[in-house]
Amino acid sequence: MTLKLSVIGCGYLGATHAACMSSLGFDVVGIDTDQSKVDLLSKGELPFYEPGLDTLLAAEIKTGRLTFTTDFSAVADADVHFICVGTPQSKDGLAADLTYVKASVTAIAPHLKEGSLVVGKSTVPVGTAQLLRDQLSVAAPQADLAWNPEFLREGFAVEDTLTPNRLVVGVANDRAEEILKDLYKPIIDLGTPWIRADLPTAELVKVAANSFLATKISFINAMAEVCEAAGGDVTVLAKAIGYDPRIGSRFLQAGIGFGGGCLPKDIRAFMARAEELGADQALEFLREIDAINMRARSRVIDIVRADLSEDLTQYKIAVLGATFKPDSDDVRDSPALDIAAQLQAAGAQVVVHDPKGIEPARKRFPNLDYQEKVVDAVKGADVILHLTEWKEYRELDPSVIGQLVKSKFIIDGRNMLDRNKWRAAGWRFHALGRTD
Ligand code: UDX
Repeated sequence: MTLKLSVIGCGYLGATHAACMSSLGFDVVGIDTDQSKVDLLSKGELPFYEPGLDTLLAAEIKTGRLTFTTDFSAVADADVHFICVGTPQSKDGLAADLTYVKASVTAIAPHLKEGSLVVGKSTVPVGTAQLLRDQLSVAAPQADLAWNPEFLREGFAVEDTLTPNRLVVGVANDRAEEILKDLYKPIIDLGTPWIRADLPTAELVKVAANSFLATKISFINAMAEVCEAAGGDVTVLAKAIGYDPRIGSRFLQAGIGFGGGCLPKDIRAFMARAEELGADQALEFLREIDAINMRARSRVIDIVRADLSEDLTQYKIAVLGATFKPDSDDVRDSPALDIAAQLQAAGAQVVVHDPKGIEPARKRFPNLDYQEKVVDAVKGADVILHLTEWKEYRELDPSVIGQLVKSKFIIDGRNMLDRNKWRAAGWRFHALGRTD
């Protein structure tokens, strides 16, 4: 008999997981408390931008296997329940806010049928899974709980879900592992490594992975600072060290640093949890990783000030990019948007362009000026800041853009533009970590 699944929380993670599991042939019900989100998803429409997920979702809705609802009692039919709700940074500190995770388990508990398995996918502080398992053993003793962290990258969410580079399951017994193996059989059959862990290790794998990635980015941004001071070029340095397979060239792109809904809040929550566990010294370095990351943002502002003036009130700044990375409309903790807002707060006239992120950005910073077209955003600008590396920006013609701006000055905050091309068209070109 094919297992039936429920997915609680239908954001980037949950909507992707629901559509992907449906594409593997399972009946899936997605549950979210946001009625407007559920309405859109039920019509096969995505409430956010994620390449490839729109077509997959529409196709799966058509099969009839995939449905969405706000009604938690819909989980009663399902055998396996994936918790995919957010764990944002709490308002009053570094720790993760577990409100939604706890509320989800409480809401589904009365409806769980005999032998069902609740599977956490959200990123949580280590120890949460055991707490929830204890909570379930009272509220729904007929159910069990496992943890199955998710490593999907926005922009590659479908690919990372259907062909992940590993599957990690935290389980307390063989039965839970067997259920998950059964579910993921088509993915395991592709040769995907399968890692069984205990609950705390599974939770830790996720935050350890994100901490490592954040460390790699901040490492190269620290090198960028040194390169600037010493007259070096961080892009050449990154290329050179990346050839050592022990180091590897990926995630060594120097620039304005990491943002998004995961890396920044995950390293902070990890530090907060380590402190609770009395292991704060072990993660002291993450404080520095966070500081280097935030400094990358202020360095752009320093360069603008040093070049234009301390007083920015007379200047117009065009910001290319609002999302935290390209191929996403996600502006959560976006370095680009943070820099734009800080420059506006410093008195500059800031105009922001983004191919997909204008509406979400407007919700966060309604007072920034947004333009739908690059040519309108750059009109009369004293400086252009390239802050999110959308392909569209690499394809800009510097001669055409040069006729629209007041001053041909561009700062590449992502080290992705062809500086020879811009310089040949008469631009002053500044990039983070490159002195010449
Ligand atoms: C990340 C992890 O990669 C993923 O495994 C996890 O499940 C969730 O968090 P995501 O938030 O989608 O995924 O973004 P990611 O591709 O990791 O990029 C994070 C940030 O780092 C972006 O702001 C990006 O611009 C920045 N970055 C990335 C760099 O500044 N330099 C790099 O070399 C790579």
